[in-house]
Amino acid sequence: MYTDLIEIYHALEKNRVKDPLPELLSLIDILSQRALRKTDLSGFKEKAIRYDAAAQQRKEGVPWEYIIGEAPFLGRMFYCSSETLIPREETELLTTVALDFIKSEWKPGKKLTLIDMGTGCGNIAISLALGCQDANVLASDLSPATIAVAKKNVERHQVQRRVTLFHGDLFSPFDETYYREKIDMVVCNPPYIPTGSLQKLAPEIIGHEPREAFDAGAFGINIFRRLIKDALLFLKPGGILTFEIGAGQEKLVTRLFDKSGGYSNLAYHPDHLDRVRVISAEKLQQNGC
Ligand SMILES: C[S@@+](CC[C@H](N)C(=O)[O-])C[C@H]1O[C@@H](n2cnc3c(N)ncnc32)[C@H](O)[C@@H]1O
Repeated sequence: MYTDLIEIYHALEKNRVKDPLPELLSLIDILSQRALRKTDLSGFKEKAIRYDAAAQQRKEGVPWEYIIGEAPFLGRMFYCSSETLIPREETELLTTVALDFIKSEWKPGKKLTLIDMGTGCGNIAISLALGCQDANVLASDLSPATIAVAKKNVERHQVQRRVTLFHGDLFSPFDETYYREKIDMVVCNPPYIPTGSLQKLAPEIIGHEPREAFDAGAFGINIFRRLIKDALLFLKPGGILTFEIGAGQEKLVTRLFDKSGGYSNLAYHPDHLDRVRVISAEKLQQNGC
């Protein structure tokens, strides 16, 4: 899309159309059904962002989301900082899959307890809480700095009573006795890039976003393996584990599920390019069904 827009801009310039940039913006506004008019620049003033300083940061490759301090996710804005991953459009698929499970399970009044593992700025946890008024979400992350940002987002979206924040390594913040088999669904967008492939990420990503959000060890499966095994202790029988994977990782992850012996009904959820980017599985009922 960007290439086409740049070509249009060059054509406007070449044909000496007066004010090519406003012309292009006007076209984008029409094609985005006037979405451009909703652009809110008040944040620049509130946060005293100077345009020159912002341009300098862009020159250094700092993502816009860090410069303005927020990013969109599933139609809402979330604060983010260089300590948190910038919410990705791909992850909207995981959240939609999770919301679909909730809708199939949830009857108004039935309380659901969910875990969002590796919550980052809290975008998934908060979207789930806002999507289901009876959902309580326990959102956790290894990094206390991300949890501080998630706290701001929890307040921004006023879900303090239904999203509780924790920090620590995977399930370690959750009391094993108290939460044992109490969880309806575990959702996670884990780090899944093998350490050796991190350098192949775009410089804007690897140079500015937190490495812990991507680095999944030598084979890229460290967290998957632990997540699949440890979630069994906390999920109710019939509870759902669903997480995002990298393109092409589904075979490897399927083997980990098979090896654990604790799940059934594996489902593969493709993105718009037909690549499996989300996997879900159901914890076996006690009798092994
Ligand atoms: C890919 S990011 C996902 C962030 C956010 N949930 C999202 O989807 O935009 C992975 C997150 O997992 C966290 N993380 C990495 N290792 C972890 C671990 N062992 N235990 C808990 N969280 C971890 C990282 O700090 C990071 O915030």
